[in-house]
Amino acid sequence: MSKPLYQNHLYQLALPAPYDSEDIAQSRNDVASVHGLAVGGRVKTHAPTIRAVRAVLDARSGLNTGVAIGMSGETVVVERMASDGSIEVATYAPETGQFRAGIFTDPNSTITHYSLKKASTRGVGAGKKSKDGTALLIAIVANEMQTNRNTELMDEIQVFDRLDAADEESAEAISKCCAVISDNIYRRVISADTLNDNVAIKVEIPASLNVPPITAQKLRLGAYSPDMVIMGEFTILQKGAPGKNAKVVINVEDLPGKYAFSERSFAPSEQALIPSIPAWYVVPEEVVKICSHAKATSSSNVPMRNFMLRGPAGVGKTEGARAMAAAMNLPYVSLTCSANSEIYDLLGQILPDVEGIDGASGMVNLPPPILHSPELPSLQDIQMDPGTAYEKLTGIYDEDATEDAVYMKLLEVIGQQAYEKVSAAKEDVDNQTGQRFRYVDTPLVQAMKHGYLLEIQEPSVIANPGVLVGLNSLLDGCKQITLPTGETIHRHPDTVVVVTTNYDYAGCRDVNQSVISRMNLVFDIDEPTEDDMVARVKSITGCADDEDLSLMVSVVKDIQLRCHETSITDGSCGMRELVSWAQSYMITNNMLESAKYTILSSVSADPVDRADILNTCILPKIA
Ligand SMILES: Nc1ncnc2c1ncn2[C@@H]1O[C@H](COP(=O)(O)OP(=O)(O)OP(=O)(O)O)[C@@H](O)[C@H]1O
Ligand SMILES: [Mg+2]
Repeated sequence: MSKPLYQNHLYQLALPAPYDSEDIAQSRNDVASVHGLAVGGRVKTHAPTIRAVRAVLDARSGLNTGVAIGMSGETVVVERMASDGSIEVATYAPETGQFRAGIFTDPNSTITHYSLKKASTRGVGAGKKSKDGTALLIAIVANEMQTNRNTELMDEIQVFDRLDAADEESAEAISKCCAVISDNIYRRVISADTLNDNVAIKVEIPASLNVPPITAQKLRLGAYSPDMVIMGEFTILQKGAPGKNAKVVINVEDLPGKYAFSERSFAPSEQALIPSIPAWYVVPEEVVKICSHAKATSSSNVPMRNFMLRGPAGVGKTEGARAMAAAMNLPYVSLTCSANSEIYDLLGQILPDVEGIDGASGMVNLPPPILHSPELPSLQDIQMDPGTAYEKLTGIYDEDATEDAVYMKLLEVIGQQAYEKVSAAKEDVDNQTGQRFRYVDTPLVQAMKHGYLLEIQEPSVIANPGVLVGLNSLLDGCKQITLPTGETIHRHPDTVVVVTTNYDYAGCRDVNQSVISRMNLVFDIDEPTEDDMVARVKSITGCADDEDLSLMVSVVKDIQLRCHETSITDGSCGMRELVSWAQSYMITNNMLESAKYTILSSVSADPVDRADILNTCILPKIA
C-alpha cells in the first residue's frame, strides 16, 4: 500500500524551517507536476517530502545534519537524527518498494518500531510515537538523485536548492517548487502500478502503518550496513559500530551446550532436566550475555554464577533461564517464593515417612523445622553493625566481621539449630510411635549440591527477613550450607542461580538491595515491541494471519496500558494470554468470543474491571 505516506494529517504539517513562513503558500491551483492532473486542480505541499529533499541536499553539501545515506547492495540505507535526538534508520528497496525501519534512542539502545499511525492525543493510544515518513522519503529522494531518472524532479530540486528562503522575493518560487516536487513524487508513488518502470516509484507499506522492522539480529550481522556511503556519516549501520560488535547472535539450534563450562555426564534423571528449547524460541541478547559471562569466568577465582532478570510479566524471564540452562548444558530447577516462604522451603525439611501410612492420620506433630530464634540478628542488624550481629551468633565480638561473614555464620547456625531441633523432636516421636523420618530436599539444595541451574522466582515477595538473609548467604561466595539433616554441603562450582523478578507484579515490593548486590549481572528485559509479539505468537501458534495477529497484539497492548492507568493489578494480560487467545481464535474463528475466555477472563477477577476493559479496549477494536 502506498497511501500511508500520504495520510491526510501529514498534509497538515508545516514546512520545515526556513520555509515555514506565511509568505510561502502550501497549497496552489496554478502548478502541477507533469505526472499530475491538468493545472487547475489543487496541489498541496507535502511537508515530509520537502523535509526529505532539504535533508538530502544538506547532507550532499556536507552539512552535518545527522543524515547519512548509503547503499547496501541494491538497497538504499538511511539514518536520520530526529528532532528529539533519536535516530531513525530506514532501508528501501526501489525494485520492490519494500521498506524496513526502526528507531533508536541512542546507538546502543533497543530498536523501537517505526509507525506511521497518527498519534492520538486521547484515549488508550495517547502518547504513542508516530512518524511522518521523512526517513522513508529521504531514501526515495536519495534514490531519485542517485539514478537521476526524472528530469522534472531533478530540475525542480536544483531550483529549490538555489532559492534563498530569507529572500522575500523567492517565496513565490519556493512555494511553486515545493508544490511541484511534492506532486511529482506523490503521483509517481500513487500511480506506480500504472506507470512505466522508468517513472514509477514503488512504495509498499503494510496497511497496519507499521513499517516492517529492521531486526537486531540482521543489524548485528551487518545485513543493512552500507557497502557504499553516499553522504553523511553512519552511526548505527556503520560496520563495526559501537555496541554492535559486543552483541552476539545465536540461532536457537546452535544454543544447546554452546556455553557448557565442563564436560560432565549426567544421570538420566538429570539429563531429563536439561531443557530442550523449542524451534520457535528467539534467543534474546540477555541470554547470550549471561551465558558468555558465566563461561568466560569459569576458571577465575570468582566465577560469575548469580544473575538477575527483571521485567514485566510474561516477557520471557523463565524461558530465558531455561534457555541458559540449555546453553550451559545444565539441569534446570526452579523455586517459586511466596510471602510465606520459610528457610525450610529453601533448605528442605524432615518429614514423617508416610510410606504405607495414611498421610493425614500418620502425621506426627513435628515442630516447624525453623525456628525464628529471637537471638538471631535481623537483616538490619547485620547491615548496620556486623560486629554485634556476629557476637549474637558466636558470643565473640569481632570488630572486623564483614556482612558476608555474618551471613555465612548465620546460615551455619540456622542449619545447626534446625538439625538439633528436628533430631530432638524425631527422637521424641521415634520413641513413642516408631515413626520414621525422611529428609526432603528442595530444588535449591539439589542445585547447590549437584551444580544445576536454579531459577529463583520472586524472592522479593518473601516477607520474613530472616529468610532473605538465608537466601543471601546462599547466593554469596558461600562455600557450605548445613542442612536440617546435619549434612554440610558445598556449592558446586557449576551452580548457576538466576533470580527472576517482576517489577510490576501486584504486591511486589522492590527487590531487596541485599539480593541485588549479590548478583553478578542484572538485566532488565523490556516488553517486546508489537512486531516482536506478532512474530512470537505467530511462531508459537502457527497462526499465519498477520493482520489478525497485529490487531490482537494491539488490543493486548491497549489492555496493558489501561490496566496501568486504572490500576487493575489482580490479573495479567501479556504474551501468555495472547498465545491462548490466538490458539482459541484459530479454533473458534471468533476473535471476540475467544477474547472473553482468554485475555478478558485473566485480566481481573473483578467483573466491573472486566467490563471496563471490554468496553474500552476490546469492543472498540473488535466488533
Ligand atoms: N524469546 C522468546 N521467543 C519466543 N517466545 C517467547 C520468548 N520468550 C518468551 N516467549 C513467550 O512468552 C511466554 C512467557 O514467557 P515466560 O514464562 O518466560 O515469562 P516470564 O517473564 O517468566 O513471566 P512471569 O513474570 O509471569 O514469570 C512464553 O510462554 C512464550 O510463549
Ligand atoms: Mg516466570
